[in-house]
Amino acid sequence: MTGSWVNSAERIGADLHLELSGPGSRRAALTGALREAVRSGRLAPGTRLPPYRSLAADLGVARNTVADAYAELVAEGWLTARQGSGTRVAGRAEPLGRNPRTPAKTPLRTRGPRYDLRQGTPDASAFPRAAWTASYRRALQAAPNEAFGPGDPAGRPELRRALAEYLARARGVRTEPDRIVICSGFAHALRLLFGRGTRDGPAAGGVLRGPLGVEGYGLGFHRDLLAAAGVRTVPLPLDEHGARVDALGRERAVLLTPAHQFPTGGPLHPERRAAVIDWARARGAVVLEDDYDGEFRYDRRPVGALQGLDPERVIHIGSVSKSLSPALRLGWMVLPQRYVGPVLAAKGEREAWASVLDQLALADFVAGGSYDRHVRRMRQQYRRRRDRLVAALAAQAPHIEVTGIAAGLHAVLRLPAGTERSTVKAAAWQGIALDGLAAFRHPQNPTAAGDGLVVGYATPAEHAYGAALEALCGVLPPG
Ligand SMILES: Cc1ncc(COP(=O)(O)O)c(C=O)c1O
Repeated sequence: MTGSWVNSAERIGADLHLELSGPGSRRAALTGALREAVRSGRLAPGTRLPPYRSLAADLGVARNTVADAYAELVAEGWLTARQGSGTRVAGRAEPLGRNPRTPAKTPLRTRGPRYDLRQGTPDASAFPRAAWTASYRRALQAAPNEAFGPGDPAGRPELRRALAEYLARARGVRTEPDRIVICSGFAHALRLLFGRGTRDGPAAGGVLRGPLGVEGYGLGFHRDLLAAAGVRTVPLPLDEHGARVDALGRERAVLLTPAHQFPTGGPLHPERRAAVIDWARARGAVVLEDDYDGEFRYDRRPVGALQGLDPERVIHIGSVSKSLSPALRLGWMVLPQRYVGPVLAAKGEREAWASVLDQLALADFVAGGSYDRHVRRMRQQYRRRRDRLVAALAAQAPHIEVTGIAAGLHAVLRLPAGTERSTVKAAAWQGIALDGLAAFRHPQNPTAAGDGLVVGYATPAEHAYGAALEALCGVLPPG
């Protein structure tokens, strides 16, 4: 039998399309079809399945065939059967929770994790819609006609002026608007700087060459992007003072996250800040400063930008991905004078990446003070979340040390040796998405930072955060 619509709308409020095809018994076919419907998310957690009798009648199979198929899927954890509430699709956590010894035959996947504790994304529900709309409207009304023509690759002058003022005030950056080039974020900046080059020669369309020193732990996406551009990256060991910049040698550039090492969380020690500038001066090299979450420091004033130490040796790169939203795709590079021309040449004659109208809106948003207000509000919100994370761990898992909490949108939970992989797995079973520290380790980094979880506390919506913490504490290894 193939493709039967089970129209049980009056009884269960849902239509169910099951394909009972292929060799083998009808029971096996029905079990397989139902499992696939749950696995693929077509049958959502909590959905009530039709009673045996009506599904059997709709499919033209025996009642026992349906009963057996349901029983098998209950044993596997895909379905639940409770007196009085019938047979339902299990929540994602249930296969492990109900019967830990029964392995699932296929990994469970739903449309998204129940609790998203991955680092990386700000609270999407907190995007300042009203203030952004107001800025957009004002920007559109005030824009000269030429703004609607092809954009200048340097970016709108209104935005470069607003950023020069803001970055000087809030981050200690020393610059002029004409040293700022707008881009669509940090990843775009890397592409512009390194292009599609080779190990031996200048990048095609790029500005800098490898080898590039990088922190021993960082974002794999950025490493992949550099590898695709033919740039060899050389990992620097990390210790409690940040990257060991004394390990730099013949590299032509180094990429650092000085305000808040990503992902381990500490600032670069002041002596190392000075040392890396000395190295760059001595070798004619350049430091790339990834200032991805520099505004979010909680217990004292933000650590100023490294660029302030030597604007001719540091390329400072920032974006709105953490402060506002990664969906805007807007960022900036603050360049030493000698790189402005080459970066503009790499960008091409016209702006091809960052919407000019979004740039105008951001200029209004920054110059009118809305950016400061939003960052201040989010800083308070994230600080509260961080404090709740720390309090939940102190109460429920006091043996777990939490580090990297002075700044940013994520923390690192230090785990007993050998427990990271199983904890990440157990979390996945409970519907918690997060990463272990190992996911960020440079493949050639000889020194490991130990076992740990990188917990992003910004992403869950406010109402879901308490439950997310509860779930997290539930999967941590016992003390
Ligand atoms: C380490 C790091 N650098 C930079 C960024 C910003 O990337 P982009 O501006 O390309 O969104 C992120 C993510 O937001 C990040 O985690």
